Amino acid sequence: MAFVTCIAPVNIAVIKYWGKRNEELILPLNDSISCTLSTEQMCARTTVVASTRYNENKFWLNGKEENSNSPRLINCIKDIKEKAEKVESEASKLNVHICSENNFPTAAGLASSAAGYAALIAGLASLYGVKGDISAIARKGSGSACRSVLGGWVRWHKGELADGSDSIATEIAPASHWPEMRILILVVNDARKKHSSTSGMKQSVKTSAFLKYRVEKIVPERTDQMVKAIKTKDFETFAKLTMQDSNQFHSTCLDTYPPIHYMNDTSHAICDLVHAYNNIKGCNKVAYTFDAGPNACLYMLEQDVPEFFTLIMNVFPSDLDSVEYVKGMPLKVSVLSEQLKELADNYRHNTGALKYIIHTCVGDGPQVLREPHEHLLDKDGFPC
Ligand code: DP6
Repeated sequence: MAFVTCIAPVNIAVIKYWGKRNEELILPLNDSISCTLSTEQMCARTTVVASTRYNENKFWLNGKEENSNSPRLINCIKDIKEKAEKVESEASKLNVHICSENNFPTAAGLASSAAGYAALIAGLASLYGVKGDISAIARKGSGSACRSVLGGWVRWHKGELADGSDSIATEIAPASHWPEMRILILVVNDARKKHSSTSGMKQSVKTSAFLKYRVEKIVPERTDQMVKAIKTKDFETFAKLTMQDSNQFHSTCLDTYPPIHYMNDTSHAICDLVHAYNNIKGCNKVAYTFDAGPNACLYMLEQDVPEFFTLIMNVFPSDLDSVEYVKGMPLKVSVLSEQLKELADNYRHNTGALKYIIHTCVGDGPQVLREPHEHLLDKDGFPC
């Protein structure tokens, strides 16, 4: 039995995917662009093994056995096996055991399915010797997962073909292109169950006239501008487009009938704070973006992290110790000017508004782990 263990990153979109033109093949209505986050801080890890001894596929996620007959999982395994047959991999005839886990709480709602499917597909591709593009297969697990099979800055092309074969992800620039870029994720304390992205976007496609306008009139030009801003490392434009696109995505959710609310009061307060801060600085130093949940993902350059982080710590105080409250890359505090102290006073929240903060950077795509102790399945193919 051959075991393969793979880790894959989370990605955060700066031009959002929202709406499908084909539900089964998971084909989007518009192109989207994302940044792949470092696996050092957040990643999904998956071990896969194929054996003649297994009479069915089995799948465990975060320690719990899940339904291995979900259409999305079946589609992904089928596609990988079809590609494997072309390279005459013997394993393509066998059933698989899959075990996956995230090193960050799934409850935080942080793109866990994207990282999970990317790790699974990268693991299966390695097990079966499949080469070439795997984004079109990961896409069938979860749309945004196709962007997590690559590192750096990634564009998911909506494609034109009916079979979806041209709806793939490509690299705009590698992780090393903009090494100063940093990401702060503010995990907002909100345990309420929200609409899944899948059902939310389906409802938007059905009912929102604004989504149609966004897809046809806004995203094509904005995507070109975003590619240019990333390639030329123009943070001012990158930040403006990122915030505008996040706001437009959430406006589309509000235009959906019945409306969908993913952001809460804390999320809106973070937006206001970022604009007030940028205003004081006279240019865009920080950009926010929100996915299908209340958590903020903030992009900024390394040189600006200490000041903005200090501001955040003043606005969102915590009674937790710093090890629990601040995770990821080390963070330094700085001295705030009188003007920023006043800003913090005006925006101050009670303790507990944020659960915790993650500090991370741009990272590479999936990686195969070679050490046997890194596998999540034991020698018989069951969770360790
Ligand atoms: C708001 O990829 O989770 O994060 O394709 O139905 O699995 P499915 O949806 P999913 O949607 C992600 C939506 C988003 C925006 C984005 O990541 O582009």
